[in-house]
Amino acid sequence: MNSPAAPQVPHMAPCTLPDGAELVMRVMPMPADANANGDVFGGWIMAQVDLAGAVLPARVARGRIATVAVNQFVFKQPVSIGDLLSFYARVERVGNTSVTVHVEVYAERNPADPQIVKVTEANLTYVAIAADGKPRPIPR
Ligand SMILES: CC(C)(COP(=O)(O)OP(=O)(O)OC[C@H]1O[C@@H](n2cnc3c(N)ncnc32)[C@H](O)[C@@H]1OP(=O)(O)O)[C@@H](O)C(=O)NCCC(=O)NCCS
Repeated sequence: MNSPAAPQVPHMAPCTLPDGAELVMRVMPMPADANANGDVFGGWIMAQVDLAGAVLPARVARGRIATVAVNQFVFKQPVSIGDLLSFYARVERVGNTSVTVHVEVYAERNPADPQIVKVTEANLTYVAIAADGKPRPIPR
């Protein structure tokens, strides 16, 4: 028996994908994530970037990691409730015990006339942690 043809759904991605980056997370902010102006609260975006940023370092470190530093964080455009946020990450540096990543966030908005805009980018460093909470070497 033939299976029915898959429905055609337009594919949306940034026109210029971040070089060598991987899509690590997607999420849509809800009204509970808004600030007093009705835009999305910057602290909520920072938390999502921290979650997304940890994906590749956890893979590289093959175990427990902790965020040691947010070296740079830029809010380029406001984020609105209902924007579909895509988080792209790439590893910038692997040190003795740390992994630094660059994260770019793109918002897909306005379904009637879809647009994709870069809203945020950040650099974060994560440290591989042993059972005693101390840094451990990154496996090579
Ligand atoms: C992460 C932690 C274990 C690191 O311990 P530490 O004694 O400060 O470790 P070190 O000074 O040896 O630094 C460890 C690595 O982090 C890097 N690092 C430390 N501070 C940094 C900073 N401000 N920016 C970038 N990298 C930094 C070091 O260069 C080193 O990397 P390398 O080994 O690849 O060269 C400790 O700081 C800690 O527990 N912090 C709290 C983590 C946390 O609760 N995060 C939030 C929730 S996950």
